[in-house]
Amino acid sequence: MNVQALVETTRKLMDGGRGLLAMDESPATCNKRLLAAGIPQTEAARRAYRALMVTTPALNDSISGVILHDETIRQKTTGGIPFVNILRDADILAGIKVDTGARALALHPGETITEGLDGLRGRLADYFGLGARFAKWRAVFTVTEAAPSRGCIAANAHALARYAALCQEAGIVPIVEPEVLMDGAHTRETCGKVTEDVLRCVFENLHSQSVCLEGMILKPNMVLPRSACPEQATDDEVADATLMHLRRAVPAAIAGIAFLSGGQPAERATARLNAMNARFRGPGARLPWPLSFSFARALQHPALEIWRGEDANVALAQRALLHRAACNRAALRGEYSQSMEA
Ligand code: 13P
Repeated sequence: MNVQALVETTRKLMDGGRGLLAMDESPATCNKRLLAAGIPQTEAARRAYRALMVTTPALNDSISGVILHDETIRQKTTGGIPFVNILRDADILAGIKVDTGARALALHPGETITEGLDGLRGRLADYFGLGARFAKWRAVFTVTEAAPSRGCIAANAHALARYAALCQEAGIVPIVEPEVLMDGAHTRETCGKVTEDVLRCVFENLHSQSVCLEGMILKPNMVLPRSACPEQATDDEVADATLMHLRRAVPAAIAGIAFLSGGQPAERATARLNAMNARFRGPGARLPWPLSFSFARALQHPALEIWRGEDANVALAQRALLHRAACNRAALRGEYSQSMEA
């Protein structure tokens, strides 16, 4: 394992005050988003949508890395330029989602295990050759009275750790994403407890698999009352709860934390990230890790709504994407405010 190269990649992703754009939806998930925006669900539409994002002028002001899907890492613009070349020339690192999705976990009704370890060593070598320098694997945890079960947490934590080790062997920085879902009616306290339990188990497994913490990034959910919970929370309450649980469960040695947005409204995700960074500005108040973003929906959604599949809307959609990226960049410094949305 080349630790120095891994650490160098994490620095490029985390240290410049920029964040990550996740555009690694599977064709099926991307189609769902296109359908909701009234756009035909074709390979051509998915390619055009992804081209819109990667060719956004000045995207690199706020974005240090873009996560691609297997379909997208091989795609080109209509002018024939591979997306990875456009990103490279803009000083944006290309990443790749390498899990193959969540499937039903045997004997655990309603719970899933994320798959994709078979053949992963070979796929990682291919992706490295295509220019990917970091990767992502997402495990999903539903919260109910009975879930997540110990079996579900253990199986997914083990898979995340095996994935992370294979990435590091291949010279690719793993983004480790255990997502406790927002759906349901549970409270912020339950979300916090489950998030902390999951993270403890994930880091135990990362340790067993000899993963180098300095060469990895964690992509967690924020600690939120869930969407149907009658008691909602202020941005500061979310920030405090999230950081309390992360500080208890996440080693100081990891290169950084880049949150997922999880279906929060775009402006809320930004405001909550801002609240976390604002509370730890200045001497004596430092967090052990940089706190960044790796949003999909909270970056893309306004742009998709404007684009609607029309060439004439591309420039305006790109401005919307750039705006969300800039707001989130300001949130990394704790300098975002509602007035930026005007
Ligand atoms: P959201 O920001 O839409 O939750 O997506 C993040 C992601 O990459 C999911 O794997």
